[in-house]
Amino acid sequence: PPRVFHEPAQLRAEIRRVQADGKRVGLVPTMGALHPGHLSLVAESQKSCDLTVVTIFVNPTQFAPGEDFAKYPRTLDADLELLSEFAPVWALVPEVDAMYPPGSTTEVKAPEIALPLEGIFRPIHFDGVATIVLKLFQVAPADAAFFGQKDYQQVRVIEEMVRDLIVPIEIVRCPIVREADGLAMSSRNRYLSPEEREIALSISRSLHDAVRQIESGEVNARLLRDEIEQALRGAGVGEIDYVSVACPRTLKSVETIEGDVVILVAAKVGTTRLIDNVLVSFP
Ligand code: PAJ
Repeated sequence: PPRVFHEPAQLRAEIRRVQADGKRVGLVPTMGALHPGHLSLVAESQKSCDLTVVTIFVNPTQFAPGEDFAKYPRTLDADLELLSEFAPVWALVPEVDAMYPPGSTTEVKAPEIALPLEGIFRPIHFDGVATIVLKLFQVAPADAAFFGQKDYQQVRVIEEMVRDLIVPIEIVRCPIVREADGLAMSSRNRYLSPEEREIALSISRSLHDAVRQIESGEVNARLLRDEIEQALRGAGVGEIDYVSVACPRTLKSVETIEGDVVILVAAKVGTTRLIDNVLVSFP
């Protein structure tokens, strides 16, 4: 089983010792409820790092009132069990007070890339993410940190923050892990009833169809967007927050596909809000 830390200061001291021996440390920040998507980040870290540190912390400041902070799945025993398949792995499981010392008022303001898409529907979300991730980088001063492209805008936010604030850590992006039928793995999938899970499938399916059309020469982004929205509505998806065909670097939406694009979707299935995306790159 992983070595478990609850005290940030103790973890930091131990990481420094490992690094003093010339070893490379990888960091995988998570909110727990681990699934194969998270574990793929651990595996990727193990490829290039001698030690992997996984943090498990449901960060209150990235949830708005009315979002699922209280009911977010907390499955620590199962998480540690899953991490037992990897070694050497350390886990940090801090209390809220350890990450937010009582009385703290300092925050990170997320970079501009946080403003469109998720930023419109979750206005405080990325400030909370940037704040906790910078704190985790302080607590676990790793050489590299691993993030999934499942949360495409999030990894862009972290990349920009690290550049802007000159944080000495390498950010590694990892591909989306999907279920056999295409559904992007997510801790929130466990909120879905079997019927809702079937509806949710339309998200990855419509993204996949759009990729196929781009590969056969379609360049009209508006048309692709409309088709994705129609497919989602037809399948019974509820509120569609956005469907965007955008520049992978700036996340600004494009009208005509002239180079690499990322297609991003956020929509509700029942009361569960799901996101997915696909990156289309040209050789
Ligand atoms: P969480 O949703 O637990 O995700 C932790 C990491 O796992 C993120 O980098 C996310 O992109 C990645 N991930 C989730 N599902 C994935 C999938 N299907 N394939 C590949 N990677 C996947 O993202 C967060 O936590 C938090 O915002 C955090 C960064 C920990 C800050 O609190």
